[in-house]
Formats: sequence, C-alpha cells, structure tokens
Amino acid sequence: MNKLTVFAAGVCTTFLASAPFAFAAEKLTFYCSAQEEWCQVVSNGFQDATGIDVAMTRKSSGETFAQVKAEASNPKGDIWWGGTGDPHLQAAEEGLTEPYVSPMRSELNDWSISQATSADDKTIGIYSGALGYGYNTELLAANNLPEPACWKDLLKPEYKGHVQMANPNSSGTAYTTLATIIQLFGEDEGFEFMKGLHKNINQYTKSGSAPIKAAGRGENTIGIVFMHDAVAQAVAGFPIKVVAPCEGTGYEIGSMSIIKGARNLENAKKFYDWALSADAQSLALQVDAFQVPSNKGAKTSPMAPDLASIKLIDYDFVKYGSSDERKRLLKKWDDEVSVLPQ
Ligand code: F6P
Repeated sequence: MNKLTVFAAGVCTTFLASAPFAFAAEKLTFYCSAQEEWCQVVSNGFQDATGIDVAMTRKSSGETFAQVKAEASNPKGDIWWGGTGDPHLQAAEEGLTEPYVSPMRSELNDWSISQATSADDKTIGIYSGALGYGYNTELLAANNLPEPACWKDLLKPEYKGHVQMANPNSSGTAYTTLATIIQLFGEDEGFEFMKGLHKNINQYTKSGSAPIKAAGRGENTIGIVFMHDAVAQAVAGFPIKVVAPCEGTGYEIGSMSIIKGARNLENAKKFYDWALSADAQSLALQVDAFQVPSNKGAKTSPMAPDLASIKLIDYDFVKYGSSDERKRLLKKWDDEVSVLPQ
C-alpha cells in the first residue's frame, strides 16, 4: 500500500465513522403562525427537549395556508403550529393535512378536541383568545377623540385615518374580524359595516398583531386585534387600553396541523404530542403570550383576558372554516370593500 492509498483509506474510515451521525441528524420543518417570539421559544424548547433540529418560519395564518397549498405536490413543511383555526380547518377539508390522534388528548379542554373532531382529526386546538381592539390613550386624547367601547363606535367619522386592521386574506385575525362582524350583524349589514369601517382605516397590514404594535409605537391610534395582543402591548409599558366590544365578540381556536406528505412525519408527531403538553404550553409565559392554553394543566397568566367575563358569540368555526365559505367571503371583501375609495 503506498502513502496515498493509506491516506485515502484513513479519510474514508473517518468519513464512514462520522457519516451515520451526519446523515441521521433529525430534522423538523416548522411553520409557525403565532407571534414571532412565541414561535422562537417553542422552536428552541422542542429542539432542547428532543435534540431534533428545527427550521422555523413565521408567517400569518392565511399566508401559511397559501404556502401549504402551493407546496402540496412537493411538501416542504412538516408541522403547522399556531394561527387562527379557520385556515387550518380549510386545509383539513382540502386534504392538505394529515389525521393524527395524540395520546395527549385526555389533558385537553373540550374546545380543543371539538376542533379536531370537526376536521376528522386533521387539526387540533392549542390555544384560544377573544377578538377586540386596543387604542393608544395618549393619541386618542391628543386628537380629542371619544373613547370607543363598541364595534359600531369605530364607524364614527371622527376616527377617519385612526383605525388599522390586517388584510383578511393574509391574516387570521382579520378574517376572524370579518366572520365575527357577519355573525353579529348578519351578512348584509356586516358588509355595510366593513365598508363603513374601510373609510376609517389608515392601512391594512399583513400580520394580525401589527396594528396594535403600531399603536404601541404611537404610529396608529386604534388597532383591531385579538385582545391578548393588545394586553401584551400594555404589559410592555405602552399606553394601550384594551376593549371587549359592547355588542359581543368572536374568538379564535388557535390550531396545529401535521402537513400531508411531511418528510419528517415521525418528528412532526413528536412535536404534536410535545406541543400539547402542559410544560410546552406554559412556555407562553416566558414571552408574554396571553392566549388561553388548551392543556388544562398549563399555566395561564393572570394578565390574560378572562374569556368567561367577555360577551362571546357562539362562533361557528365549522361554517367559517369551510373552504367554500372562506373563499367566498374573502372574494366578496376583495371585490366590494377593499376596492372602495377612502
Ligand atoms: O399574535 C398572536 C396571534 O394573535 C395569535 O393568537 C393568532 O392565532 C395569530 O396571531 C394570528 O396571526 P395573523 O392574524 O397574522 O394570521
């Protein structure tokens, strides 16, 4: 054996010895639609608990739905965690997600399981939270504006240019707003409401929580958001007051689904079970995420909005999460509301 052969054999042995580890690196591609900080903590928490490498991307609920659908013939994601339930239900109906019954179910609240049973186990509830709005008290006072308390207050002409919400195509928060207004006032009056509101909107953002973050920074007065996102701004020290609208309001069941054709299916199931545990859900407290967790044993912050004290509508998740209805309402909003002059 000459020197070169010995060297080559050595390299080969070293490579082969390390190869199994290199190739066996466990992976999970994680699509997240909750708030960025919570996505990060969940991603790191799972990685620490299992040693599985997590590649996380955060996008809004409607955007992630569109991505999962676009990738359906060659799926890149394994698990979709967070975001409002409606697009998860639509994904289930369109066959984009995988059924799974987790052994963790006995630890969950009924509302979480009913989300699963309504979708042939292709999704499940991980948190819930009520819709509302928040406003910057200093900007409101500086502009001599009255304190809003109801949905219909937001139509007053004096709020022109002072209200922000997300676009319901990209954002689950904004779609929940549209569906809530229709359930509260009926479809005809509900669309008239959205047209009236449009006159006061200064910007439709991509992400649902952006309007209240802008209000926290003093760049916007009123943000239509989930109340927990408004509480987070107040807790962070910004002059934000949180409103549960007087007519009543809708709510979300934030959901999780395994993507059909997931390349790392076993790891997706491991994540799914872990994410339903009390310990994993209690990580929310580290990042001031004030949603109500679906695991009965998980800790809820005392600052989280108390859903029992809010006038909640009987939100029809099945109807407003159905593929036809969601597509129809979004198209109607695009055609009849978003195109109007302001
Ligand atoms: O910011 C957190 C949150 O409000 C979640 O409770 C909700 O599921 C998600 O954002 C919705 O985000 P988006 O409106 O951007 O889809």
